[in-house]
Amino acid sequence: MFEPIYYTEDRTKNYELVIEQLRALIADEEDFIANLANASALLNQFLDDINWVGFYIWKNDELVLGPFQGLPACVRIPYGKGVCGTAVELKQTMLVDNVHEFPGHIACDARSKSEIVIPLINGEEVIGVLDIDSPIYNRFDETDKHYLENFVAILLKHTS
Ligand code: SME
Repeated sequence: MFEPIYYTEDRTKNYELVIEQLRALIADEEDFIANLANASALLNQFLDDINWVGFYIWKNDELVLGPFQGLPACVRIPYGKGVCGTAVELKQTMLVDNVHEFPGHIACDARSKSEIVIPLINGEEVIGVLDIDSPIYNRFDETDKHYLENFVAILLKHTS
């Protein structure tokens, strides 16, 4: 059974705790979808001020909605479109302080104001993205980027 823990006031310490929780959650399981589902639930109970967290999976040349927490979302995102498709194209994390200023941003939830998208890269290949939306501007910074990239790397190392 998953035991929620009390996070501290120290943000970096909290990220280290959540990464340990991820390791424990996926340790005995190699199913990719199951691990993405638990990873999205873990992040949802950990991160403050977010309204959507989940994965899109690269399938037949487009991103297709995967496990997530939040409101129902757009199912398919083409290469190079929106923040997610741009993360696939550039193979890099997209940190967007104000989604309304991002050309081609795809609004799945009207409340979203800022967003971070981390590509899931296996070798040279992008196999999906982790997408997190926030209802406040400037929600994500370099600390989030650093630890969420680490989070994704652990997830991928274990399951792909
Ligand atoms: N905003 C994303 C679309 C996915 S939703 O936020 C869940 C984008 O522009 O790619």
